[in-house]
Amino acid sequence: MSQGHPGTLPTTVRDDFPLLCDVDAPVYLDNAATTQKPQAVIDAVVDYYRTANSNVGRGYHRLAMTATDRYEGARASVARFLGARHADEVVFTANTTDSTNLVADVVGRRVVGRGDQVVVSGMEHNSNLLPWRRLCEQVGAELVVAPTGADGRVDLSAFTAVLGPRVRIVAAAHVSNVLGTVNPVREMTAAAHDHGALVLVDGAQAVAHLPVDVQDLDVDFYCFSGHKVYGPMGIGVLYGKRDLLADLPPYRVGGGTVKGVSHAEPVRYVPTPARFEAGTPNVAGAVGLAAGLDYLLGIGVPAVREHDESLVEAVLGAVADLDDVVVVGDPGALPCGIVSLSVRGIHPYDVGSHLDAHGIAVRCGVHCASTFLDSLGLVGTVRLSFAVYNTLAEVEYVQSVLKTARPGPWTADHPTERFL
Ligand code: ALA
Repeated sequence: MSQGHPGTLPTTVRDDFPLLCDVDAPVYLDNAATTQKPQAVIDAVVDYYRTANSNVGRGYHRLAMTATDRYEGARASVARFLGARHADEVVFTANTTDSTNLVADVVGRRVVGRGDQVVVSGMEHNSNLLPWRRLCEQVGAELVVAPTGADGRVDLSAFTAVLGPRVRIVAAAHVSNVLGTVNPVREMTAAAHDHGALVLVDGAQAVAHLPVDVQDLDVDFYCFSGHKVYGPMGIGVLYGKRDLLADLPPYRVGGGTVKGVSHAEPVRYVPTPARFEAGTPNVAGAVGLAAGLDYLLGIGVPAVREHDESLVEAVLGAVADLDDVVVVGDPGALPCGIVSLSVRGIHPYDVGSHLDAHGIAVRCGVHCASTFLDSLGLVGTVRLSFAVYNTLAEVEYVQSVLKTARPGPWTADHPTERFL
């Protein structure tokens, strides 16, 4: 294994990740789907259950207060991480999909009506497309798709051209989960605000790779999932500007959302964020997420940026020598830890199976973004996605294995078939 060069993190980072220390661990390049977990996150979750487990926000015994402190401490960590002004602007959800559905349901139903428009970018993951599509179908609004350019990012002038007086909400990815390309979300947000529209940004692929400051971006809502940033599965974040959240009705109703209910009186809901966290929340998940963010910050986002840059550049250099391998989009423009490849004459699933047979884990196919793949004219891609523990030696190994890829059963029997 390479010891790394300036710009890559030391290979000893792998020692922090127990799964990667197993002798039969894969070359794990499916980090855009989920990252592996460092021991610090595993320890934080175990420690929570071992020493502090209790329900939160409803008990007045000491253990309940301890659990509540840990949960609210995690919220404060997330708020700092995002540059939010107030901790109560952070709502814990299950994942990014849960966050986008919350906003589409609660905000969308309030501000989008018949004849209005919702704008999404042409690269959206289904989780930031289908909630808006369903909303539009339900209220009689129009879903407008802002085109992406040949480089695989939203073109600002094409985006601005679709904005008009009927647009109520803009929903866009910060970073493409397919190509790793970065959208100009600050500029998009300013343009949308000029038209009086609210903006939600899906940061699922951004937070582990870019510095994110929600005040600087001025977005109204920002979402991400804990499991893509070294935290546990089942915990997600919805950031919302305080005055916007304060004005909204709850999403789901139930325990924890009310001040007390009487059959005779109108229901009085508690303020945000508890208003949006009906039922027992994923406290261990929140604590684990905060540990994941601490882990990332301990390495340092600038160091991660350099690491991403060197790995993405290494892939671009490695595949430049392979005649049949095409890089999709322009991931090198602002490297963000993802490179998608297309191999001429070989179905992406055959490429993925070949890599897997050689111990390399990647995702292939449409990456839950088939509308984007349609616009690219591709049946799918082979996606390499990186995290802090990946190495240049792994990129070299991928290159050597790609050289031996050949058409297989998918290419022969289902050349245009897709799923997921
Ligand atoms: N959204 C994740 C991905 O793109 C699952 O792979």
